[in-house]
Amino acid sequence: MESMGSLRRSHHCNILNQSNIGEEVTLMGWVLRRRDHGGVIFIDLRDRRGITQVVFNPEINPEVHAKAHGLRSEWVLAVRGRVQARPEGMANPKLATGAIEIMVGELRILNQSQTPPFPLDEDLEVSDSLRLKYRYLDLRRPAMAHNLILRHTACQAIRSYLNGEDFLEIETPVLTRSTPEGARDYLVPSRVNPGRFFALPQSPQLFKQLLMVAGMDRYYQIVRCFRDEDLRADRQPEFTQVDLELSFVGEEEVMGVAEGMMKALFQATLGLELAPPFPRMTYAEALQRYGTDRPDTRFGLELVDLTETVRHCGLKVFREVVEKGGMIKSINARGCADFSRKDLDDLTAYVGQFGAKGLAWVKIKPDGDWQSPIAKFFTEEEKQAMVAALKAESGDLLFFVADQPAIVHGALAELRLELARRLGLTARDHFSFVWVTDFPLLEYDQEAKRHVAVHHPFTAPHEDDLALLASEPGKVRSRAYDLVLNGTEIGGGSIRIHRKDLQERVFAALGITPEEVSDKFDFLVRALELGAPPHGGLAFGLDRLMMIIAGRDTIRDVIAFPKTQKATCPLTEAPAPVARRQLTELYLRPDWQDAKQKKE
Ligand code: AMO
Ligand code: AMP
Repeated sequence: MESMGSLRRSHHCNILNQSNIGEEVTLMGWVLRRRDHGGVIFIDLRDRRGITQVVFNPEINPEVHAKAHGLRSEWVLAVRGRVQARPEGMANPKLATGAIEIMVGELRILNQSQTPPFPLDEDLEVSDSLRLKYRYLDLRRPAMAHNLILRHTACQAIRSYLNGEDFLEIETPVLTRSTPEGARDYLVPSRVNPGRFFALPQSPQLFKQLLMVAGMDRYYQIVRCFRDEDLRADRQPEFTQVDLELSFVGEEEVMGVAEGMMKALFQATLGLELAPPFPRMTYAEALQRYGTDRPDTRFGLELVDLTETVRHCGLKVFREVVEKGGMIKSINARGCADFSRKDLDDLTAYVGQFGAKGLAWVKIKPDGDWQSPIAKFFTEEEKQAMVAALKAESGDLLFFVADQPAIVHGALAELRLELARRLGLTARDHFSFVWVTDFPLLEYDQEAKRHVAVHHPFTAPHEDDLALLASEPGKVRSRAYDLVLNGTEIGGGSIRIHRKDLQERVFAALGITPEEVSDKFDFLVRALELGAPPHGGLAFGLDRLMMIIAGRDTIRDVIAFPKTQKATCPLTEAPAPVARRQLTELYLRPDWQDAKQKKE
């Protein structure tokens, strides 16, 4: 192994082209590939910016050529040499540096590498745990490096846009108190305050509101949030928000800033010109038309309510469901009458996962007749009404689910997505935004046997619904809004409560006792008494946004060092056991360790 000595890079691996021919250059990077062509050795030298071909020719420099024989994948090199044109017919137009190569006069091996645990030069399927264990190798792969570069570009564009809109970037604490965003907290014991704990923030929600009370007027932060919840492809235990808050605003101003930010972001990352304002839809409408509050609006396949049409029909399951206060909804899969028996069985099993007890279907034959196990249960009139409601034509395939609304909506929302995937309606380069507004303020939690906040307890109720707060809390609409992109909730926020009396009424509707309020939220209530301005804001999930922009299926691919589905880090093997001494120092009784040791 050799040192760099006084050798320094003159160029990166993406930059040299025909205009540099004849120049003497020094490159440093990793061996991506080595090819031995009857004496002449070719190396593709890689850094994060690109690849340059370097050549070792025994006739020109036998010593260096001999040394090049030993080079292997991922060794770290410094090469000095002259830029020359590639021979006739050897140029690679796909590569930025494809017209040239470096004839090496000096080679220094800065470090060797063992054979990597997976190849870095191919788009090979590698297990997630292996990729995460050797994340630094995974990130050397151009596609992954590209994701991190794209994320950097995105953050710069976001900062630049918000700075231009007169926002201040302000940091908030990571060691703090619980912020109720609906997940479990990560706790940190305090050594100097025995028996007390910090909670890692689920979001900076209360601090950003306090910054408005402080008169900061417009705040933002690209900030880490921590939530101990069940993980999915678009959920990590620590994730990043682009968090905003504005004073003296209503919904329009907040949504306007969010739209401006999206425009700047898509311009900078994909060169795309979005055309806000984005369409809006109430929560009730989203549920009715798509069965979910995060509709993928890239395609139709909307839900149609047939409850009234089939109320008295001959099919017992449908009739009974209606009698029990349930509903029947339907989707018209246009032109899908050629789906096979197996397709239909698969789809029935699929919706079964979401609680549907069956999936009735009708194929409309070329002559308009119904091919369906349930056709015989409907009168001609009922059939005609259904055909009209669904705008059904010959060649169409109609699906029906009968059940209580939550199941019908859940199952058909998933069926809709599955159909769209099968029909190729979910293009990654098609970006369909929609705002969902007028969420309910509260929902009844069966387990807790009380109402809980749909967004969070600081969200303002609709003025018009204030009277319902004590009598029918479930009917109160909130001033919350979510931004949905291609069926993913990429951001959410609300206009906040800024007066103490209203905040106390909402706490009461949530069943939070005055004692609990004074214990947990005293600092907030106090601030509301000391000149809190009207304010509102929102937070974007940066990881989700980047996943969609980068065209990936999981947010792990746009996070440098993410965690597994089990919230572990295979690279550092965190979370890890700690020494008994550390526990006692924190006044934590090592009961759990004792129990484990006894067992062993
Ligand atoms: P909310 O809880 O809706 O709002 O979070 C805002 C956005 O953060 C993203 N997100 C996540 N991304 C990855 N992994 C997770 N576990 C995760 N959880 C949430 C989503 C979501 O839309 N304080 C409020 C915002 C406000 O009212 O201003 C809040 O945190 O994209
Ligand atoms: P059955 O009378 O149980 O044989 O069902 C007749 C058809 O109705 C089958 O295609 C079932 O999949 C369908 N089906 C049964 N229950 C439901 C339901 N709750 N919603 C929609 N379709 C159903």
